[in-house]
Amino acid sequence: MANTNGKKTYYITTPIYYPSGNMTIGHTYTTVAADTMTRFRKLQGYDTYFLTGTDEHGQKIEKKAAEAGVTPIEYVDRIVAETQDLWKLMNIEYDDFIRTTEERHIRIVQKIFRQFYEQGDIYKAEYEGMYCTPCESFWTPTQLVEKDGVKVCPDCGRPCQPMREESYFFKMSKYQDWLIDYIETHPDFIQPAKRANEMLTNFLRPGLQDLCVSRTSVKWGIPVDFDEKHTVYVWIDALSNYITALGYGTDHDELYQKYWPADVHLVGKEIVRFHTIYWPIMLHALGLPLPKQVFGHGWLLFGADRMSKSKGNVVYPGPIVARYGVDPLRYYLMREMPFGADGNYTNESFLTRMNADLANDLGNLVSRTVAMIEKYFDGVLPAWDGNTEEPAGTELRAHCAALPGLVDDQMAKLQFSQALSEIWKVIGECNKYIDQTQPWVLGKDPEKKGLLGNVLLTLAECVRFVAVLIGPFMPSTPERIFAQLGVEDEQLKTWDSLKCFGMLPDGLHVRKGDALFPRIDVMKELEALSGDSGKEAKKEEKAAEKAEKKDQKAQKKEEKHEEPEFPAEIGIEAFDQCKMQVARVLDCRKVEKSNKLLQFRLSLGADGERTILSGIAKYYPQPEALIGKQLIVLANLAPRKMMGVESQGMILSALDGQGNLRLLSVDEGAEDGAIVG
Ligand code: ME8
Ligand code: MG
Repeated sequence: MANTNGKKTYYITTPIYYPSGNMTIGHTYTTVAADTMTRFRKLQGYDTYFLTGTDEHGQKIEKKAAEAGVTPIEYVDRIVAETQDLWKLMNIEYDDFIRTTEERHIRIVQKIFRQFYEQGDIYKAEYEGMYCTPCESFWTPTQLVEKDGVKVCPDCGRPCQPMREESYFFKMSKYQDWLIDYIETHPDFIQPAKRANEMLTNFLRPGLQDLCVSRTSVKWGIPVDFDEKHTVYVWIDALSNYITALGYGTDHDELYQKYWPADVHLVGKEIVRFHTIYWPIMLHALGLPLPKQVFGHGWLLFGADRMSKSKGNVVYPGPIVARYGVDPLRYYLMREMPFGADGNYTNESFLTRMNADLANDLGNLVSRTVAMIEKYFDGVLPAWDGNTEEPAGTELRAHCAALPGLVDDQMAKLQFSQALSEIWKVIGECNKYIDQTQPWVLGKDPEKKGLLGNVLLTLAECVRFVAVLIGPFMPSTPERIFAQLGVEDEQLKTWDSLKCFGMLPDGLHVRKGDALFPRIDVMKELEALSGDSGKEAKKEEKAAEKAEKKDQKAQKKEEKHEEPEFPAEIGIEAFDQCKMQVARVLDCRKVEKSNKLLQFRLSLGADGERTILSGIAKYYPQPEALIGKQLIVLANLAPRKMMGVESQGMILSALDGQGNLRLLSVDEGAEDGAIVG
């Protein structure tokens, strides 16, 4: 859409993150991508709007706050402040940061919910359960505890009464056919395309269930304003942020008018479903246009797992930035893996790229170019010598002139890594060009002065192109390059100035500066970085010890044959967090000095092997009989040590009627490592 200045608009968003813990390098990844894209469109002259924020309601936050002994708002306020500091550190320039606890958001979510109800998209349904009046809590039969033959409240131990519990449901099914058709006729809507297929095959074509969109059990949420014991389901609350932040539904909806529909919602692949099923249906029910695109990018992995706070395998950007600066990390995040695919974060690959791409390729090009202009032209850029042919550079100049277009093509597809790779092709060609033209040989022959000047001008202009184009990725590097080239004119730093090659005026004074990116000793830095995370590891160890004590309590409870307490219902996202996989038993033996524990060595196919301890020794006097069997394991359970051995997951089992243990398995033919779900 064009705004009043006739500029094209560009609206981009990140997910609003849960402030349940500090933001990791994973959250930083999405945010840097959005910032890079915004800066690129801004460079091209778009009127951009970049929204990020935090998703602050729900049981998880409620619980975290209680554990920390503070109120939910006190808890999130601290993390939000730290998040905003992190974005400042990462040089993120957002236009707005929305918090779902803000009045401007709450009011409109209530209004939207009411509209859904009034127009019949949301209906109320009832179901039966047991109610503890003093606690005002609703319990399902499995949650109740038996005391002297009476079912009582698990919290206070008093008897419960049968009661009807009511919830609000959204008629998702009503919009299913419309959405299937929309997705099929708008191939750009869900990117990468394979995610569209996943949505169609796994969720839409099998049929949508109506969605429960209110909770009476969650107090830390937005109240349904016409039925205050209910709070709005967090995803209805959270997704609305993309329009509430623009003032949708208020008297001041200028931003909404100007920027909606969004050009793209950037999200991690695990929440594509919410953004391409619930969100479009909500918008359609409101009569609003859909975002032009939802892009589901891949995960930054750490080893074979997705980084996550609960798994304790998290990398935080702070220490890396403190040691190497922001731009190398931003570059690495955008360069290392194609947007859409998963990739591993390792300190080693980060340090290697810093040396190879930044210190060597880019840093050397700039320093050699500037040094040669100093040496052969006293630091003053010569004019192009029209009488001297310089055929060696013809191709390079044409390639560089085409570079903005090549970068734009990749950026339009959010292919950050490819865009950088196009830029680095030109950098590589420049370095080859230096080796090939050998300016130091030309410099010895006064007759070759014109040719030498043309070679150095070609290089300097290529460097200027590169400096402009890397700006969105590495915002503080271009100025350092311009300073060395002596470029002060702001016009020479613009996208428009890249329309033709050869804009650098003669007479500029170059100034050799510090190396843009110092070469580093990878081995030494690796040690230093693991020292930093070593401290983190100690903290985590302590946390694990605590968790173990808690587990022991849980185990005691189990021995008393108490049913674990389950919530009345969970969202599918809770289930989605459990990575269950098929695993083959490679070895199984008793753990020495333990009557309870069996130690399994398991193969998870492509995900490698791991050790899991399980307290089931009494059921299997001959553990080796289990070798070769395929079992189901919870693979992303935080590892913990028992009897000095680290257990990396959990084996799933159930008791049969005779008190024997039955291990969960799958029918013949499943592959080792296959995901269960
Ligand atoms: O899901 N690799 O919040 P969240 C790549 N509040 N991206 C990662 C990542 C990793 N290892 N870790 C996090 C929520 N991310 C909801 C969103 S939106 C209306 C509500 C990024 O704190 C990625 O963008 O769990 C992912 O989707 C998001 O953080 C999840 O953040
Ligand atoms: Mg999540």
